[in-house]
Amino acid sequence: MRQPIIAGNWKMNLGRVDEALAFVRQVRYRLNAIKGVERVLCPPFTVLAAVAEILRPTRIGLGAQTMHWQDEGAYTGEISPAMLAGLCQYVILGHSERRTGRVAVPDQDIEAGVESDDAVNRKIHAALAHGLVPIVCVGENLAQNEAGQTHAFVGGQVRAALAGLTAKQAEMCVIAYEPIWAIGTGKAATPAEVNRVIGLTIRGVTADMFGEAAAQAVRVQYGGSVNADNIAAFMAMPEVDGALVGGASLKPGFVELVQRAASAQDPCRPRAPR
Ligand code: PGA
Repeated sequence: MRQPIIAGNWKMNLGRVDEALAFVRQVRYRLNAIKGVERVLCPPFTVLAAVAEILRPTRIGLGAQTMHWQDEGAYTGEISPAMLAGLCQYVILGHSERRTGRVAVPDQDIEAGVESDDAVNRKIHAALAHGLVPIVCVGENLAQNEAGQTHAFVGGQVRAALAGLTAKQAEMCVIAYEPIWAIGTGKAATPAEVNRVIGLTIRGVTADMFGEAAAQAVRVQYGGSVNADNIAAFMAMPEVDGALVGGASLKPGFVELVQRAASAQDPCRPRAPR
C-alpha cells in the first residue's frame, strides 16, 4: 500500500520570501487539486515558515532540505529536528550534494556539515523521533555505475542509513534513488534500470534488514533530471513510487509534472490514503 510521492527540492533557489511566495501562490491551488499522489515542496530554510503559512489551507506537504540530529546546542548555523517539527512534515537527508561535501568542506568531522553515512543514520533516527518523514537519498556516481558497483554501493548506503531502525520506522521512511550522474545533467537514468535498482537493491536490502512486508511498504522515489516529459515513464514502473525533482520543481510546469505523475500511475498499484 504505497501512495506515490512527488517532492520538489528547490535546493538553494527561491529563498527570498517574496519570490518563494509568488511561486507558491502561482501553483498551490492547482497542485492541491491533484489526487492520488502526495506532493511536497522543499524550499530553503529562510522561507519555510512563510511557505508553511500559505500552504496551511492545502494538503500540500512541506519539507526541509537537511537538519542536524541534535535538538539544540552549540552548532552554529545548524537547524534541529525540534525546530522543524510543527513547521514541516518532511526532511531530505543525505542528498548527494551534501554527502559529497559540495556544500561543506570535504573530509571534515561530520559535525562540520558533511553528511556521512553515520550522520545520515543519526539524522534519520532524530527525524522519526520528532515525527518528521525522512526522504533519504542514495545513489552511485558515474565511475561506480560504469564499474558495475551500483548494487554494492547503493545497497551499502541503504544498510547504513536504516541501521538500528525498527521495521515500522523503516516503513515510515521515503527513499530517493538518485544516481549522481543523472542529477542536474538532463540525462535521466532509464526507467527500466531504475526499476531494477529499486526492486533488487533498495527493496532487497530493506527486506534483508526488516522483512519482506517492510520492503513492500517503504516508498522509493527516483530522482535525477525528472521533468514533465519523462515522469510518466518512471511512474509506469511498478517499483517506482514517485520522484524527487530538482530543476523542474522551480517552474510553474511542476504542476503539469505532478498531474502527469498522477495520471500515469498504474491503476492496479495497491495504495492507501495517508
Ligand atoms: P534534478 O535534481 O531534478 O535537477 O536533476 C534532482 C535532485 O537533486 O534531487
